Amino acid sequence: MYSFKNDYAEGAHPRILHALIESNFEQEDGYGEDRYSRQAVELLKEKIGRPDVDIHLIPGGTQTNLIALSAFLRPHEAAIAANSGHIQTHETGAIEATGHKVLSVETTDGKLTPSAIQEVLDAHTDEHMVKPKLVYISDSTEIGSIYNRHELQLLSDFCRKNNLIFYMDGARLGSALCSSENDLRISDFPELVDAFYIGGTKNGALIGEALVICRDSLKEDFRFHMKQKGALLAKGRLLGIQFLELFRDNLFFDLAQHANNMAKKISDELSRANIKFVTHSPSNQIFPILPNSVIEQLQNNYAFLIWEKADQDHSAIRIVTSWATKEEAVNAFLEDIKKYL
Ligand SMILES: Cc1ncc(COP(=O)(O)O)c(C=O)c1O
Repeated sequence: MYSFKNDYAEGAHPRILHALIESNFEQEDGYGEDRYSRQAVELLKEKIGRPDVDIHLIPGGTQTNLIALSAFLRPHEAAIAANSGHIQTHETGAIEATGHKVLSVETTDGKLTPSAIQEVLDAHTDEHMVKPKLVYISDSTEIGSIYNRHELQLLSDFCRKNNLIFYMDGARLGSALCSSENDLRISDFPELVDAFYIGGTKNGALIGEALVICRDSLKEDFRFHMKQKGALLAKGRLLGIQFLELFRDNLFFDLAQHANNMAKKISDELSRANIKFVTHSPSNQIFPILPNSVIEQLQNNYAFLIWEKADQDHSAIRIVTSWATKEEAVNAFLEDIKKYL
């Protein structure tokens, strides 16, 4: 059985494990004050090209979204997200549990637009309703699509004009930035969004996300919020060591590129066989629509999610490739599909 279920089925890139073992007996300060975390933060600031941002290393994605949004919003304020957005669909109401409603917007490609956000603003007019205050997007999105520079600039301008906080979930930012269709650099984001995170968990780290807070007014007391929500790890060094290794050279991007290449190999081959997809997704998540009989046979040897029913005889499946996906497994998967079609 080979898994295309997600990009966290494997452990961590060997270089990361090696760095953890190498530093194992060193005595370091706790709670992110160790020299590795401090160096990782400085290195990330350099890569982003902005010494003035605040960067916090946080164990997981849900936790990062939850701490950031609950810290940034006042009690009556709400977040706006695509109907497929992770905070809307897959975080067990974590944002709502902190008292902030998530207002969802219908999209077909997982991406928010200014006009869709405007509709939410128009529908919330007074103090008898929550006040929409933060726009949540993820890049890549929950369905593998990516934002280009123009789309992000439009959203950014709209948020600034309407005094909205613009937040980007980058659980799969590596994959978005390494997409063949990407026209953004990691250094572009501080100009475009108020806060974003760089995902490590799904790109070769054991655990860890790096939250970058760009807007000054959102920075205050953030470590208090982290501690209160259980995210200030005594052994914070574990996160620092990993991000230092990922960004010491091009490892972070090389790993994301590999995941994308594997997904592209599958989608190119399936497109040649006239297979349709739920949406255009030039990243490491693809959603081909296959006959149910083919899916059943594939399930004997491969693990993947059944995403949605397409019609009586067809369903969309979700295929996710990772930094560690083996090309031989991809080849065998493609051979099997051809055989079953
Ligand atoms: C876009 C996005 N954000 C956040 C998360 C949550 O991450 P975690 O499972 O580490 O809490 C995920 C996980 O799948 C995700 O895809």
